[in-house]
Amino acid sequence: MPAPRLRGTLHLPADKSIAHRALLFTAMGHGTATVAMHRPGADVRSTIAAIAALGALTTQSTGDDGALVLTIAGGGRSDSAALPGSDPVTLDCGNSGTLMRLLTGAATTRAGRTTLTGDASLSTRPMERVAVPLRAMGAKVTTSDGHAPVVVDGGAHLTATAHSLPVASAQVLGAIALAAVTADGNTTITTPGPTRDHTERLLTFLGAPVTREDHATTLTGPTGWECRDITVPADPSAAAFWLVTGAIHPDADITLADVGLNPTRTGIIRILERMGARIDVTPAGTVGPEPAGTLRVRSGPRLTAVDLTADDVADVIDELPVLAVAMAAASGTSTVRDAAELRVKESDRIALTVAGLRALGVDAEELPDGWRITGAPVRATPSATRAVVATAADHRIAMAFTVANLAGVGTTDCDVDDLACADVSYPGFLDDLGALT
Ligand code: S3P
Repeated sequence: MPAPRLRGTLHLPADKSIAHRALLFTAMGHGTATVAMHRPGADVRSTIAAIAALGALTTQSTGDDGALVLTIAGGGRSDSAALPGSDPVTLDCGNSGTLMRLLTGAATTRAGRTTLTGDASLSTRPMERVAVPLRAMGAKVTTSDGHAPVVVDGGAHLTATAHSLPVASAQVLGAIALAAVTADGNTTITTPGPTRDHTERLLTFLGAPVTREDHATTLTGPTGWECRDITVPADPSAAAFWLVTGAIHPDADITLADVGLNPTRTGIIRILERMGARIDVTPAGTVGPEPAGTLRVRSGPRLTAVDLTADDVADVIDELPVLAVAMAAASGTSTVRDAAELRVKESDRIALTVAGLRALGVDAEELPDGWRITGAPVRATPSATRAVVATAADHRIAMAFTVANLAGVGTTDCDVDDLACADVSYPGFLDDLGALT
C-alpha cells in the first residue's frame, strides 16, 4: 500500500563487504586492534562467529556512538599474515557467499583443516570458481561437487601465480589475495571487468604491498601487517532501497548518514541520476581507507528509462533488484544485459525479480542475462488487490518488493512471503521503514 509521505534521517547498517574484510584481515594480522560497526547483519555476524571460533575475538563492547566494537587478536606475524590456530575447525558461513569465498583463501594460511559450511542457499552456489585458482597455487581445497562444504587443508607452501579469472568477482579476487600472503613473489589477479576494490584499499591501509592497475591486482608475498583499528561505514547497498524509494515516491525527503561512497559501489547513485533522480551527495572525508558521506534523496519529476550493460552492471550488481523497481516506475522501457551473474546470487535474481514485478502487474520480461521492463506511473492510492511475491528467502528481493509496495509500484499492492530474511544484510529494515512513514 503506498505511503502518503516519507521523511527522515537513517543511520544504516554497516557495509557488509567492508565488515567481512575488516574482521578477517584483522584476524590474520599481528597484534590486537578493534573493528567498529553499527547494526551488523546476519552475514557479518557469521563472520564474527567464525573469528570467535578461530579464537581471534577477545572482547565485544558498545562504543560511545552505539557502535559494536570488537577487539580482535590476529593470528599472524608482522611479516607473515595468518588466521590463528591449527586444530581442525568447522565454520558456518550461514547465507554469506563473500564469507565462504574469502575464508577459503584465508584458511590456506592456517596449518590445520578448516571446513566451511553454509545454509541451503549458500550450499547451491558455485565454489569451484575460488577453489580452481587456489589449487593452481598449490593449495589443498576440495568442494562437494563444486559446492559447500568446502574443505581447506592449510599450511601448504603456495606458489605466486598469475591468474586470469573467467568471472569478474571481488570475492574470488579477495580469496586469492589472502592466500597470496604466504607465496614468494608477485601474485597477479586479472579480472574480465571492474570489481569492488575493498580488498586492495584495506590491505594497503594495513601496510601490505598491493597494487591495482585497471583490472589487475598484484600482491607481493610473503607479507603480513600490524593490526590497526578500523571503523566500517554504512552500507550503500542498504542505502539503495531508500534512494530508489525517494526517487519514485511523490512526497519523499530522506537523508542517509555516514554512507560508504567508494566509487566501485556508488553506481546506484550515478544510474538513478541518469534516470533523472534528485540526489545530493555530501562527502565527509574518509573512514579508514574508505570515502563516506551523507546522501539526501527527494521526490522529483518521473524517472526515465535506462539501458544497462556490462560497464554499468559491475558497480550495481547487488542493487539490480531494487533498480528494477525504479525501472518499473520510470517512463519508457529499460533493459539490463550482461548480468547473468544475478542467477547465482542468494537466489536466481533475474527469475525472481521479473516474476515479482509481473505479480505486481508490471510489464516485465526475463532475458538470459537480464530483463526488459516497461514502467508505469506509481499509484498514490491503495489497490483493491494484494499479491504475494516469492523471495526464496533472498534479502535483497524481499526488501526490493517491500519498497515497491511502499511507493505504489504496479497495479496491485503486495506482501513478500519472507521479510525476516532482510536481517541478512539489513537488521531493523522494518523499523527504518516505520521511521520514514
Ligand atoms: C562482494 C562481491 C560481489 C557482490 C557481493 C559482495 C564482495 O560478488 O555481489 O554481494 O564483498 O566481494 P562477486 O564477487 O561474486 O561479484
